Amino acid sequence: MTVTAWQASAPSNIALIKYMGKVDATRNLPSNASLSFTLDQLKTTVALTNITATADRWHESNSFSATEQQRFIQHLQFLKQEFQYDGYFEITSANNFPAGCGLASSASSFAALTRCACQAFGSNISIEEMAALSRQGSGSSCRSFFPGWVLWQDETVKPITLPYNQLLHHVIVVSREKKAISSGLAHRHVQSSALYATRAERAEQRLTLLLESLQAQDWKKSYTLVWQEFWDMHALFETCDMPFGYILPDSLWVLQKVREYWDIHQDGPLVTMDAGPNVHLLFRDDQVALANELKQFFAEKYLVL
Ligand code: PMV
Repeated sequence: MTVTAWQASAPSNIALIKYMGKVDATRNLPSNASLSFTLDQLKTTVALTNITATADRWHESNSFSATEQQRFIQHLQFLKQEFQYDGYFEITSANNFPAGCGLASSASSFAALTRCACQAFGSNISIEEMAALSRQGSGSSCRSFFPGWVLWQDETVKPITLPYNQLLHHVIVVSREKKAISSGLAHRHVQSSALYATRAERAEQRLTLLLESLQAQDWKKSYTLVWQEFWDMHALFETCDMPFGYILPDSLWVLQKVREYWDIHQDGPLVTMDAGPNVHLLFRDDQVALANELKQFFAEKYLVL
């Protein structure tokens, strides 16, 4: 057998209106629409090598936990079934950032795997079709197939044109520890929160307001909405039957410092958190000096990407 290898990369994305909760868990259809910004600097590269074996396997060096490895292999198997491919692969995956700690590595890794597998199958399906397949492995990964602002609603994911299409991104990595509760479990547990009954309604309303405030270039209003949105998601986590959380004292310290900056200057970055302890900051393209200033400030204590 000739050994052939394929390689593909995909960026991560950060949601400003979050996908949390599903109406259909088998196909990963979300309870509400989400809006993200693609993070070109944070990438995963996946390589697939065809092997003579009776099962797919991981290359020994990878940064995934056993559960994550399993989920990834399952997605590869799902893709092989879709394309009626009956060979086996060895998988290699590498990020240029720490994985599994709320930097949305599942988005970039599932998007990269789907892209790479489509290459290996010799398929030339459209980006939209690829995004739909990737969604079935990790919902948020469907937004990583498009640059800039991306809107995902039901089965449709598409890039949208909004002002501030050149946002600068930094993430304050207060902890690199792997999260104890995966996003898959989080999607399931949040349904037991009393806040969940009206979650989709709140998220949809907030999405409408955020799209309006971004269109109107009302940065402060956008900041307020994005701030409320990540707290809404984290409140779902903390109010489940079996509460859990990702926010650490250091996360709170960073949030407080950024909020103080806003209070003093009536300006600052958009702030959000994924399902993890790390704090994402998004700056307008005219805030390069501020982005550098805050990066240096937080870099005294934490890794800043
Ligand atoms: O794509 P999943 O199933 O790993 O879900 C993750 C969803 C969040 O990252 C927590 C929020 C989002 O919209 O990206």
